[in-house]
Parts: sequence; C-alpha cells; structure tokens
Amino acid sequence: MRITLADLQPSQRHAWLTPLIVPRPIALVSTVSAGGVGNLAPFSFFAMGGQNPQSIAFCPVADRDGNPKDTLRNVLETGEFVINVVSRSMIERVNQASAPYPFEVDEFDAAGFTRVPSTVVTPPRVGESLAQLECEVFQIVPHGSGPQHSTWVIGEVLVLHVDDSLIAEDGLPDTTRLHPAARLGRQEWAYVTAQNMLILPRPTTVPGGKPAPRRTMGL
Ligand SMILES: Cc1cc2nc3c(=O)[nH]c(=O)nc-3n(C[C@H](O)[C@H](O)[C@H](O)COP(=O)(O)O)c2cc1C
Repeated sequence: MRITLADLQPSQRHAWLTPLIVPRPIALVSTVSAGGVGNLAPFSFFAMGGQNPQSIAFCPVADRDGNPKDTLRNVLETGEFVINVVSRSMIERVNQASAPYPFEVDEFDAAGFTRVPSTVVTPPRVGESLAQLECEVFQIVPHGSGPQHSTWVIGEVLVLHVDDSLIAEDGLPDTTRLHPAARLGRQEWAYVTAQNMLILPRPTTVPGGKPAPRRTMGL
C-alpha cells in the first residue's frame, strides 16, 4: 500500500500516522496567559533534542477554523511554559485535561492536579508529576496556515525538577521508577515498566574490530 499524503484530508493523515509514529511521550504543558489565566494541556507531538543548550519541542495543532490552542496563545504572549512528565498514575487526569475547556477555565482545577510554584518561570508545575521542566521559548515555527496547521514551539530547558523517588544508585533518574506514559493511535495509551524494557549496550567496535569513535557525549 502506498499513500500520498496530499491525497488525504488532514484528519485522515492524522489517523494514518498516529498509530505508526509510536510510542509518543506526553508533555503535559502548563502555561499562564498575559492576564494571569492558567492552562494545562497534553501534547504527544513532543520531542527533546540537542544538549548545548538543551532544546525541547512540542506542536499544538490549530483547530478546524485555523485558531490556535490556548497553550500556544499563552506561549506567544509570555514566552514561558513548563513541561510536566506524565506517569501511569496521571493518565486519566491528563486525558481529562485534554477536554476543550473555555479559555477562562484553568485545567489544573478541572482535572484535579496540584499547582506547585516554579522557580524561574511564571507557569506553575504539576505536583503529581515526578519530573518537571521549566522552559523558555527559543523559537516558534508555524508550518502551514489553514485549518489544523502545525506550530512548533521550540523551547530551552532552564531548570529540571526530579522527585527523589526516581533517583537510582548512580545518582541519575531511573526510567523504571517513572512508569512513563505514552500515546499510541486511536484511544490507545502505553506505559513503560521494567518488564517491557530492553537493555542493550551501544557497540564499542566498528566493522574490522576498531574501537567505535564517540562523536557525541551520551548519544
Ligand atoms: C495524550 C494526548 C496527547 C495530545 N497531543 C496533542 C498534540 O500533540 N497536539 C495538539 O494540538 N493536541 C494534542 N492533544 C489534544 C489537546 O490536548 C487538546 O486539544 C487540548 O484541549 C488543548 O488545550 P488548550 O487549548 O488548553 O491548549 C492531545 C490530547 C491527548 C489526550
């Protein structure tokens, strides 16, 4: 089967790609409008990149009339956001936070999450999240302009908060303690446990037996 994306309606493109580009980690993004109204919404079009500085990106998709989501509106107004990492225990409330609440409604209250003050940005953190990233906008990149067009919000991570319960003997976070949630296609979700994790050291040699060069720290 071969599919040319231009032959599909935007919603069909979403239906074909989201079951395939998986599992997608979920950024539960908290923002505040210039007028002080809080907002919380999940985004699975979400990735980290680079290390120097540490960048992070998520993608709010415009509605059928081309209007921006409240999260994007706030980020454009203030240049700040917090990414709250989602664990298994948060999934149902995160789903609730994705309901199309009016701009005036703060999803912290609607979904039952606890506000914790941030340290260098205005939007609060989600107390139930075991890892939170305080971020400032680096660049906002619109892709398209009509109904359901994308806008990539690229941010720089300024401060990371990690719950002590996640820290392993080596002093770093242990993913198996996080039980991170992910979005699949349709209404499917997934989460990582020690049972479904595969541990595989990186190759130390290249063909011919020579040591593999390390080009980038940790990658
Ligand atoms: C797990 C999950 C992931 C989502 N990912 C995205 C996404 O990447 N981009 C997007 O535009 N909407 C996404 N949504 C839908 C938004 O969360 C939803 O439209 C929300 O109401 C937007 O809130 P806001 O208008 O307050 O920003 C997702 C929903 C769920 C439940």
